[in-house]
Amino acid sequence: MSAPGAEALPAALQFEHVDAAYGRFRALFDVSFTVPSGSVTALLGPNGAGKSTVARVATGLVPSTAGRILVSGRDVTHQPAWKITRLGVAHAPEGRPVFASLDVEDNLRLTFLSQLSRKEAADALERAYARFPRLAERRSQLAGTLSGGEQRMLALARVLVVPPRLLVVDELTLGLAPRMVDEVYRALRDIRDAGTSLLVVEQQIPRALELAEFVLVLRKGRLVQARPASELSAGLAEEILSVPAAPVDGSS
Ligand SMILES: Nc1ncnc2c1ncn2[C@@H]1O[C@H](COP(=O)(O)OP(=O)(O)OP(=O)(O)O)[C@@H](O)[C@H]1O
Ligand SMILES: [Mg+2]
Repeated sequence: MSAPGAEALPAALQFEHVDAAYGRFRALFDVSFTVPSGSVTALLGPNGAGKSTVARVATGLVPSTAGRILVSGRDVTHQPAWKITRLGVAHAPEGRPVFASLDVEDNLRLTFLSQLSRKEAADALERAYARFPRLAERRSQLAGTLSGGEQRMLALARVLVVPPRLLVVDELTLGLAPRMVDEVYRALRDIRDAGTSLLVVEQQIPRALELAEFVLVLRKGRLVQARPASELSAGLAEEILSVPAAPVDGSS
């Protein structure tokens, strides 16, 4: 699968019996899974299943109400997002989280400022432009005037300023034209090849299966499937998403 000895590394991310809620609304029920180090794990499920909630809990944006969360073997349960970020966890959330009134380059620089020296920032800018040539062409364009796909790309470039150990991406390709999806997936593959573990929330199942080694399926806040991607055809995945299945561990 990955580098020799990788199996000895602690999992990039581990959920153990995690519950989460928004006020009185319970969004996750007893969710347990592992994202092995160096792997890509796809998180699939219908709208409202709790995929973004898993992403938010993993990155500390939403607190868990029960269970344990581990990042690279360290217990981060109830840790604030900034502390989890320091462990090398990056989150590309849903939507278009860019500064609309700043140009592309300032959006990138703003991210560098807090994290890098001048020299490192210049190198990081070049790396970002090499990875996303479309952004290089538009470096002085206001981010708010970029197309939806370009804004997603900029959002991704921003979280990659410092290569993360674990990258959580949430529906980065939603509404994008196939060519833009290709570009995003090429970037994700590069990121994986550079050693980052990925948890990829995706609606386009065939795309997710191209890249992922493991697949998780959520439904109504419960994990209903966790298996190697090789065991899952796109057709079967569609079926899993449309037909209710028994919980994975039979508990609850
Ligand atoms: N801030 C919030 N306040 C209250 N309820 C929320 C909040 N965010 C999400 N929810 C609810 O939690 C449940 C899970 O939402 P979540 O956004 O995690 O689903 P999702 O699988 O990412 O869906 P989608 O595919 O539509 O993005 C939904 O019922 C949603 O309405
Ligand atoms: Mg979502």
